Amino acid sequence: MSENFDVKLDNKSHLPEYSYIDNTWMGRYEPAYRRFLDDPERFWSEIAHELDWIKPWDKVLEWNHPYAKWFTGAKLNITCNCLDRHVLGDRRNKVALIWRAENDLEERVMTYRQLHTQVMRFANALKNLGVKKGDKVCLYMPFVPEHVVAILGCARIGAVHTIVYGGFGADALNSRIRDSKAKIVITADVSYRRGKAIMLKSIVDEAITNAPSVEKVIVLRRSNLNVELIQEKEVDFYEIMEQAENYCEPEEMDSEDPLFILYTSGTTGTPKGVVHTCGGYMVGTYYTTKYVFDMRDTDVHWCTADPGWITGHSYIVYGPLATGATVLISETVPDYPDPGIWWKIIEDIGVTIFYTAPTSIRMFMKYGEEWAKKYNLDSLRVLGSVGEPLNPEAFEWYYRNIGKSKCPIIDTWWQTETGMHMIATLVGEKMKPGFAGKPIPGIIADVVDKDGNPVEPGIGGILVIKTPWPSMMRTIHNNDERYRQYWSGAGGYYTAGDLAVKDEEGYIMIIGRADDVIIVAGHNIGTAEVESALVAQEPVAEAAVIGKPDVLKGQSIKAFVTLRVGYEPGEQLKNDLIYNVRMSLGPIAMPSEIEFVDTLPKTRSGKIMRRVLKAKEMGLDPGDISTLDE
Ligand code: WT7
Repeated sequence: MSENFDVKLDNKSHLPEYSYIDNTWMGRYEPAYRRFLDDPERFWSEIAHELDWIKPWDKVLEWNHPYAKWFTGAKLNITCNCLDRHVLGDRRNKVALIWRAENDLEERVMTYRQLHTQVMRFANALKNLGVKKGDKVCLYMPFVPEHVVAILGCARIGAVHTIVYGGFGADALNSRIRDSKAKIVITADVSYRRGKAIMLKSIVDEAITNAPSVEKVIVLRRSNLNVELIQEKEVDFYEIMEQAENYCEPEEMDSEDPLFILYTSGTTGTPKGVVHTCGGYMVGTYYTTKYVFDMRDTDVHWCTADPGWITGHSYIVYGPLATGATVLISETVPDYPDPGIWWKIIEDIGVTIFYTAPTSIRMFMKYGEEWAKKYNLDSLRVLGSVGEPLNPEAFEWYYRNIGKSKCPIIDTWWQTETGMHMIATLVGEKMKPGFAGKPIPGIIADVVDKDGNPVEPGIGGILVIKTPWPSMMRTIHNNDERYRQYWSGAGGYYTAGDLAVKDEEGYIMIIGRADDVIIVAGHNIGTAEVESALVAQEPVAEAAVIGKPDVLKGQSIKAFVTLRVGYEPGEQLKNDLIYNVRMSLGPIAMPSEIEFVDTLPKTRSGKIMRRVLKAKEMGLDPGDISTLDE
């Protein structure tokens, strides 16, 4: 692939009036990057030395393409760095978590000492239920402080957590529980969304009917609904906490032991269970939180993601707590009760680092800047973006209306698979709207052709990472073959699945996905999962879904459906199909449009050619259709 994507490289750039970078050894981008290139292993070991280890490593890296082991022989527990280190040091009574409820009325605050105790009690409670190191624990929870407690409680005893976003439906939850063979599911009676209660527990009831691995369900009862528990199988979150001891010895984890599995959508088959390990993931998230966000001890960090996504794992929980920050967590959505809610929270709490997704920014643009103007946002000093390209219009709006033209906008490109930021515009560096930025120190990224040769600046190509990094995924759970594919294209480099273009200064602009993954409002949706939810319905013969550009959500889902004989197309059927996908996968994976067609374009080998549908939909040339069946 080397056709010119004809991307207009915009020379507009923003330089913040002041840089916040202090005089640590890392300093600015260039010297830090050079230092990394001089001796990559020394670079990573210096960072790792800032953290506590039970036993130090023998080797920084063992690289046996495509398998990496980082900090081999080292022993650690990530919770010691997120909690014990602060409690034993001078952050004992520092606020670790501030929680805001969806209704903006309730607030809960937990110091590092309190969080530490809660985590240890919960860890002991898990142990009392028979959970052991290596067991899988599935979390399907609302965003309340107990969610963080449960995550760290698993890590404390070496149980592998697998978090499923609370917006997913029963079938999506079921397939993830079955693939991970989770022994425990942790949930709550309800979560709240725009003032409505969502019955999480009943979704779990449905999801575990044919999931024999599940032995116990832990239920956090937060409402006054008095959800009844079945004695043999279900236990109350706080009841088991009350019965547990206060102190829990951290489990000694090998650097390469798994820390968690997180499912991400693929283009074929079931979702992929991305496996991250303890040592490298800890170093990668700590480093990027500190360096990319320029995190200081006085910072109040707010990442608006949910723990169900990698962004929540890395930049709500592990990274910020490892740096000892005060972390704001909130169940709110951007526009409920009104579109000023997030700015009100920033003013109330004094948030200094704010990290969100372009889709939210575009939603705020729609409502107008008056909402932001009502509040004092002076506490902010760093703004971040993640999930999709931050288009120049949204950049400008964010920069002016939220950052008041004084905060750097840190665009961060990365993936579930990479675990940490890979490409970013660092604090103090020149910003180019539309570009994610440059590979951060520690990362060698490039834009190449299908053989792995670099393409000229200004020409589109495949985005690759050339060398291993500590927080890279180690495998796909139950599917190592699929893992190897990531490292088997484009000259054997790690292929991200994204297309990109680089400019003369080495800034990288992300153009889009090379595969069939659709990104709706920053959430990665696999075409395969939506299609199978459609085909699972009686009237549907075949289905193909594509992503269509959407002003607010980035992309929306359109489905093309062929019907079985005996079924007639019609509005009622459309609504039924959409409703059923919503029930099975959740609202985020729901098609916004359905078109009934007689046939779907396919290759001779029978693969649906979604790009042909997409080209037709958008009035574009479908490109090479030589493999298209008559
Ligand atoms: C895909 C990864 C990393 C957490 C959020 C999503 C897209 C992510 C950016 C960005 C342009 C971006 C890519 C990537 N993406 N960040 N700053 N600019 N595109 O994680 O669900 O694993 O999705 O999100 O296409 O491959 P994910």
